[in-house]
Amino acid sequence: MVGLGPKTPRSRRGSLTDLPQSLSSQIERLEELFTVSGEKLKEITNHFVSELEKGLREENSTIPMNATWCMEFPDGNETGTFLALDMGGTNLRVCEVTLTKEKGEFDIIQSKYRMPEELKTGTADELWGYVADCLQQFIEYHHGQEQTEQLPLGFTFSYPATQEYIDHGILQRWTKGFDIDGVEGKDVVPPFEAALKERGVPIKLTALVNDTTGTMIASAYTDPLMRIGCIFGTGCNAAYMENCGSIPKLAHMNLDPDLPMAINCEYGAFDSEHKVLPRTPYDIIIDKESPRPDQQAFEKMIAGLYLGEIFRLVLLDLHQKPECGIFKGQDVSKLKKAYSLDSGFLAAIEEDPFENLSETQDLFQNTLSIACTKPELELIRRLAELIGTRAARLSACGVAAICKKKGWTTCHVGADGSVFNKYPHFKVRGAEALKEILDWPEDKGKGKGDPVELFPAEDGSGVGAALIAALTLKRVDVGQNAGIRDPEAMKLAAQAVRAFNSKK
Ligand code: BG6
Ligand code: GLC
Repeated sequence: MVGLGPKTPRSRRGSLTDLPQSLSSQIERLEELFTVSGEKLKEITNHFVSELEKGLREENSTIPMNATWCMEFPDGNETGTFLALDMGGTNLRVCEVTLTKEKGEFDIIQSKYRMPEELKTGTADELWGYVADCLQQFIEYHHGQEQTEQLPLGFTFSYPATQEYIDHGILQRWTKGFDIDGVEGKDVVPPFEAALKERGVPIKLTALVNDTTGTMIASAYTDPLMRIGCIFGTGCNAAYMENCGSIPKLAHMNLDPDLPMAINCEYGAFDSEHKVLPRTPYDIIIDKESPRPDQQAFEKMIAGLYLGEIFRLVLLDLHQKPECGIFKGQDVSKLKKAYSLDSGFLAAIEEDPFENLSETQDLFQNTLSIACTKPELELIRRLAELIGTRAARLSACGVAAICKKKGWTTCHVGADGSVFNKYPHFKVRGAEALKEILDWPEDKGKGKGDPVELFPAEDGSGVGAALIAALTLKRVDVGQNAGIRDPEAMKLAAQAVRAFNSKK
């Protein structure tokens, strides 16, 4: 993995020797619960491989393995200006991406809008209205109100969607805490286009894209060894390029078996029937109390949305256990609030550089109004390490499973998301786990130059969506219409791109 120090981070296990018996036995219990051995990682990965294969064979499998109709890698020579809308879990970004004449290069201008929390559980009209308003603002600001020709848009919609065409997507289920009525089971494109039309926003949706596919394609724009795109953020997922002949559930379409097809795995759903993942009682609570129990089992153990919540549930449990009773006599009302701690909180604890954990102490005081004793601070730090390490190690199983399924012993993986980019030690812990799963020799692993190596994908979703829009128009131009609902409309869009670019 890129940018890694050569060493696995030093744990503070050594500082735990002087703890009172009640706390040290709790730490031992937590270590047992949260540690995943190399053997277990291999077992998980093997089951993962068979679930990926099942998803390619059967509709409605646990891992959906969604065909995306993104059917080619870029060669670096794509050109043109495209809009990209990136609707992830935390932010909404509108970008204008210009793929320049210089091979593999691009210019990007972008505006970021926060996804208001209340929108995630509001109504569909509010959601599409907000998204359309952001796009309108962006276009008016950059192109003025006189822009009337339709601009082509790649829309990164980072939720599981069944795509019969590239500009179509039936939402299979909301993930990442979204819970908006009346959207699941329907194509998200018509209500989105209707909101644009209502506001007179001149946009032609050219491609609906998942963030993982966008990340893979954007990374491949500059690196021919790229094979997989991964997100480790609010949610977790990956995409890779399959060949149509290896997707039995598409056999009825008689596609050329050698044609590539990007698959959005949606593997956050892995093991939702709870066969192999070592869930703790805390994971079970998270699942039961989520808006969608028994879904996204893998994601709920490793993704950014849940790490702080797992941590909070453990601390509350330890406070309530009479034999342990941390935070004795303190007001823990703030700790009782579900989802009040995010993964940034956990990251800050793991990053506390001081031997006496004074930053952690301040964090607890300022955020939760809890004054921690020294032994409690040691427990807190060890718990954060355990949860962060488990997340990174389990995350590696998904990447390893794709590599094993495809028989790839070496490849590059483009990665994005807040956990990948910001969570301390995530990369080195993940690399160590990949090494254990894939049985690399001792001198490999833990760092730069690994056989399977992760690279940060900068602006992945924006550039990826623009590239996929460009590749789609290029495909229609040469009469390759697989997954294109209305080739004539796409040809008009291609003409509009040319007209728009000729004016620039
Ligand atoms: C962003 C990408 O960088 O990362 C989004 O632009 C993606 O497309 C997101 O969804 C994932 O990270 P997080 O942490 O925002 O879920
Ligand atoms: C969730 C979504 C998926 C997305 C991932 C990362 O798992 O279902 O579509 O790729 O989060 O954002």
